[in-house]
Amino acid sequence: MNLAEKIQAVKDNVEAHRRWLHAHPECSGQEKETAAYIAKALRNLGLAPQENVGGYGIVALIEGKKGGKCVALRADFDALAIQEETGLPFASKNPGVMHACGHDVHTAMLLGAAEVLCSMKEEFAGTIKLIFQPSEENATDSGAKKMIAAGVLENPSVDAIFAQHVSPNYPTGSIALNEGAMSASSDRFFITVKGKSSHGSAPENGVDAVTIGAQIITALQTIVSRNISPLDSVVLTIGKLAAGSQYNIIAEECTMEGTCRTLNPQVQDQLPQRMEAIIKGIAESMGGTYEFQYSKGFIPTMNAPAAFALVRDTAQTLLGSEQVIIPEKSAMTGEDFSFFGREIPAAFYWLGCQKEDAPFYPLHNNRFAPDEAAMPVGMEVMISSALAYLSE
Ligand code: NI
Repeated sequence: MNLAEKIQAVKDNVEAHRRWLHAHPECSGQEKETAAYIAKALRNLGLAPQENVGGYGIVALIEGKKGGKCVALRADFDALAIQEETGLPFASKNPGVMHACGHDVHTAMLLGAAEVLCSMKEEFAGTIKLIFQPSEENATDSGAKKMIAAGVLENPSVDAIFAQHVSPNYPTGSIALNEGAMSASSDRFFITVKGKSSHGSAPENGVDAVTIGAQIITALQTIVSRNISPLDSVVLTIGKLAAGSQYNIIAEECTMEGTCRTLNPQVQDQLPQRMEAIIKGIAESMGGTYEFQYSKGFIPTMNAPAAFALVRDTAQTLLGSEQVIIPEKSAMTGEDFSFFGREIPAAFYWLGCQKEDAPFYPLHNNRFAPDEAAMPVGMEVMISSALAYLSE
């Protein structure tokens, strides 16, 4: 059997894994049942998974012939606090929780890859480390960071790592990746402005937190337009704003919450300082006070040149070069696979999952339903990339 036939032979198992996972989603940090399911599936393959690695993380080794390098394949497995509206027969059984980012698909593909690779131990030298990672969606409690801290890249030490993420922006049968930044940093901030309440008819007796907040919102956008090079991409979004209690009372407090994204780690470092200078200047000059909290989340996901070239070349051979898309722009979404890429050479690619004629729903949408026909494609690219790396 060639690789495509081997993948075909486990297709039903992969589909069953995916549908079970989809029906039983768990949010970041709470993936107890999901982790138990994965560990059991790995034991059924004769593997000896290590559990509770940095939270609910799971690691398993597939050893080929003696000698050789160690390559890791990573899949994430947490879901989102979203009420599913897909109407699928295997839709979420957990109210208000949904696999709306395709992590069920990533995990099913890695379980399928494990099954195929277990039957190929005589055909490669080296070790394949399977990393099943929880808590990808929590920017301030990254599962990748915790698994790395728990030593997932040691014993044996990993030489390179690959991961994939479904994307409805690309058709089924294709993948997309570029060299350098694949996704942006993702930070979160909280601002509280404190003024002084007074009657709405007597502003001179108070300090209006709404007016201060409005100035701050406008001025913060000048960081993007005036402080950062136009050649660097930055997003500064305030997505949540709350102030006041009554239409005729000067608000005592105004709170804002938002996110910053960038593709450049140096720019990421610059942002909190610039923001605080503006917030402080405006709040204090208008008689108010402020609190500012900036939590660094994910760093940009960077594809290492050699790892990128390996996946690109492997996929071009498998799928044909027209099916390997090199986007001109990277996404401004966040992804905690970035932390693996900070430690060792890494490559991350988008796996096209948009079926022709099917309605388009983006990631994190309550109707997002990736095309399952993408799964054999993702498995083939992932397995082939790992084997190509080990044979280099
Ligand atoms: Ni995701």
